[in-house]
Amino acid sequence: MAHMRYLGWADKADKEGLPKIARLFRAVAYAEQVHATNHFVVLNGDVADCALTAGAVFGMKTTAENLVGAIAGEEHEVDQMYPVYYETAKFQGEKDAMRSFNFALQAEKQHAEFFRQARASALEGKDLEFESVHICPICGHTIADEAPDKCPVCAAPKDKYVRF
Ligand SMILES: [Fe+2]
Ligand SMILES: [Fe+2]
Repeated sequence: MAHMRYLGWADKADKEGLPKIARLFRAVAYAEQVHATNHFVVLNGDVADCALTAGAVFGMKTTAENLVGAIAGEEHEVDQMYPVYYETAKFQGEKDAMRSFNFALQAEKQHAEFFRQARASALEGKDLEFESVHICPICGHTIADEAPDKCPVCAAPKDKYVRF
């Protein structure tokens, strides 16, 4: 859901003349796709009708307002959702799920911080300053300007990173 929300909000940011905020949304949307794929893989092929609750918003407003929703969604995941998922997986001895939830938890912390920076810029009518965003395709680690030699979360090498 976050993946699709961010793609919509990226187009909106482009329309407002904020291409770097749009790029951040697209990069983070990709990181959310990485997380969703990891979770699906751990589910091991079971395709089921799973009801779920997302602590996130819907709707299309200005970029500064959309970013309030983005920050709230990421903070919900960092403060409540993934810690509970992680502890549940630990209790149940589901090591692969623990790994997938921890990857997501670490990246969502970065997303929340980038969206806070983007909102501060948007409120001043300015775009972000960094030129590129890099995403680890294994864990979703998210970093501006240049990828590290090795992913600090999952140890993937620099050349694996996807550049936005
Ligand atoms: Fe995120
Ligand atoms: Fe990684």
